Amino acid sequence: MKVDDYSTSKRNDENSCKVGSRMSRIRCMIRGLELKTFIIGFVIIPAIVTGIYLHGQKVTYFLRPLWQSPPKPFIHMPHYYNTNVTMASLCNLHGWKLRDYPRRVYDAVLFSNEVDMLTIRWKELYPYITQFVLLESNSTFTSIPKKLNFAINREKFEFIKSRLTYGTIGGRFKSGENPFIEEAYQRVALDHLLRIAGIEDDDLLIMSDVDEIPSAHTIDLLRWCDGPPPIVHLNLNNYLYSFEFNLDHKSWRASVHQYQKGTTRYVHYRQSDYLLADSGWHCSFCFRTISDFVFKMKAYSHTDRVRFSHYLDPKRIQKVICSGADLYDMLPEEYTFRELIGKMGPIPHSYSAVHLPSYLLKNADKYRYLLPGNCIREDG
Ligand SMILES: *[C@@H]1O[C@H](CO)[C@@H](O)[C@H](O)[C@H]1NC(C)=O
Ligand SMILES: *[C@@H]1O[C@H](CO)[C@@H](O)[C@H](O)[C@H]1NC(C)=O
Repeated sequence: MKVDDYSTSKRNDENSCKVGSRMSRIRCMIRGLELKTFIIGFVIIPAIVTGIYLHGQKVTYFLRPLWQSPPKPFIHMPHYYNTNVTMASLCNLHGWKLRDYPRRVYDAVLFSNEVDMLTIRWKELYPYITQFVLLESNSTFTSIPKKLNFAINREKFEFIKSRLTYGTIGGRFKSGENPFIEEAYQRVALDHLLRIAGIEDDDLLIMSDVDEIPSAHTIDLLRWCDGPPPIVHLNLNNYLYSFEFNLDHKSWRASVHQYQKGTTRYVHYRQSDYLLADSGWHCSFCFRTISDFVFKMKAYSHTDRVRFSHYLDPKRIQKVICSGADLYDMLPEEYTFRELIGKMGPIPHSYSAVHLPSYLLKNADKYRYLLPGNCIREDG
């Protein structure tokens, strides 16, 4: 046997190593270990374990291209628009036909605390919306009690008063539950509120988060033309913290539906293969105050991302915002190494405020923090 040969040769090299009791054999092995082994055992392995503990998410994210294949690609629909082109020509350019009258449009959102984003959104869409539908709960998706922030700020939304269907719902406060269950529960309630608001078959319904803002001309096009697919996802320009940080052009969750009673459900995932290019803006974490950032980080889905309490330190958050870095110190979610590596590190500053929502530019003083060069927050 090989083992015997080994112990024999060892015995010859070091005569103190006897094939005796188990103890002496172990002592013998330890003596045989070299310094290198100790370094590996007590320095390198602990360093790797600590590294994985601190950066484990990064390791898995970096290896994403190996363990997850990209979702099925969308069918990209070219989008034509210029202020000076008639609606009949725009419909034709898309291969659609101008209607005799526009469809009715419902804009429905679940509201948390994004007062500024909601104002910019509703001002942008105002001319084309039949009924604004808003639901808020006294529970976050993670079952933390919250104020009814829309009710508190209601006087700021007088301008849509005559077209508003507003509803509230009590949270279920089941602690420890997956936040996606509370979210689904609130979306079902929103379906109900839409029927109360009077939505009918073939009306258009915009399904999107408050911070996913379709551009007005996109909604005008969809309501005036016959021919768009019954469900279209909107490709939005993705921003983080403000319009100074243009992350990419790949936001796709927002969608516009030709409503069908009994079939249409208000959800926020992929529902069709069609994606209409350049249809608006998605501004994530675009908050006025640092305390809003802390609330969002603590209270919404993915709270697992707050792995260390210093992530919630206001000074750190302010620094992260100004540098365009990641609040959770995570790597981008990408499916190819090329895109992953290309997007690592902070988002470059953008100096363009061209083609932003018109209400934002007309009220630049009020929303300065959303525009390039103004990253410092009020309580930062
Ligand atoms: C817009 O259209 C009108 C009428 O067709 C034309 O007279 C005008 O020059 C156009 N403006 C621009 C900026 O193209
Ligand atoms: C949430 O709202 C429901 C229904 O209005 C109410 O019964 C419940 O007490 C509220 N809970 C909290 C924590 O505010």
